[in-house]
Amino acid sequence: MQDRLAVIEERLLERAGGQTELVTQAAQHIINAGGKRFRPVLVVLASHFGGEVDEEDLIRAALVVELTHVASLYHDDVMDDADIRRGAPSANRRWQNSVAILVGDFLFARASTTVAELGVDYVHLQAETFARLVHGQIAETIGPAEGEDPLAHYLDVVADKTGSLIATSALFGGMVSGASPEVLEALRQFGEDIGIVFQLSDDIIDITSDVTGKTPGTDLREGVPTLPTLLALRSTDPADARLQELIRSDLTEDADLAETIELLRRHPAIDEARAEVARRAGVARDRLGVLPEGPARTALEELCDQVVTRST
Ligand code: FPP
Ligand code: MG
Ligand code: MG
Repeated sequence: MQDRLAVIEERLLERAGGQTELVTQAAQHIINAGGKRFRPVLVVLASHFGGEVDEEDLIRAALVVELTHVASLYHDDVMDDADIRRGAPSANRRWQNSVAILVGDFLFARASTTVAELGVDYVHLQAETFARLVHGQIAETIGPAEGEDPLAHYLDVVADKTGSLIATSALFGGMVSGASPEVLEALRQFGEDIGIVFQLSDDIIDITSDVTGKTPGTDLREGVPTLPTLLALRSTDPADARLQELIRSDLTEDADLAETIELLRRHPAIDEARAEVARRAGVARDRLGVLPEGPARTALEELCDQVVTRST
């Protein structure tokens, strides 16, 4: 695994090379800043459930999902007006919004070249995934429709903006190994589920952690609903009135944002959200039961546990 990840790392930087120094520098910026490489890891682990694997295709599949992910982060940081990403200045801060948007497009173009080398089935799936990512971001931006349950809307957003690409990562891994349709479906469903759990835990960490490599409370400041805030808003306890008023306000003042984070950190909504993450991770873990036992399945089970306990 470590050897493959090292190759993936090298190729990621290679694929991020552009025709000018600026494009190369800006495109490699977020890749160089770090990251968990969760999606490539999933591609590699999922490739153990079929037959023989073409090593180059496996690397290509891992590159496609990570390049797509990184591309989406450049755009996301513009949309969220983020200052930092992976502990480094976001591309929109280091350069400017238009550079960040275009470099995101450039990385997505490189993901497209790479997926074309894999074949039409992969291109099709990649295109569907891209559409879901975009729908998720748009739905998050627009918010729930009149009368729509905000929690259900939020979960749909999370499935589209994060579950989709993680499901595709698992599916790509299965596809490069020629896995059976049943195994492919189990991998896809597992990826979708663990992807949702991953984003739910990310949203909790946005409130609870000071060491994420991002600015705490970014979602709050941008008015992006998350599981803890939606649960806190549901409370009918009069003691929560101040917190609810703060969550609904625009939170442009640093002092207001700090107070909201403080109140939320002590609020039972955080424990409730954590319990939901643990419950959903358990469901995802159970889905692995249909896959053959072995080191790859154990590693996937461990991933489920790590998503629950992670703090960055
Ligand atoms: C991060 O959410 C954002 C995503 C997971 C999806 C972003 C998708 C797009 C911008 C559309 C697709 C674009 C391309 C080029 C593929 P977050 O803001 O909650 O996470 P964060 O805390 O990491 O910022
Ligand atoms: Mg963001
Ligand atoms: Mg966002």
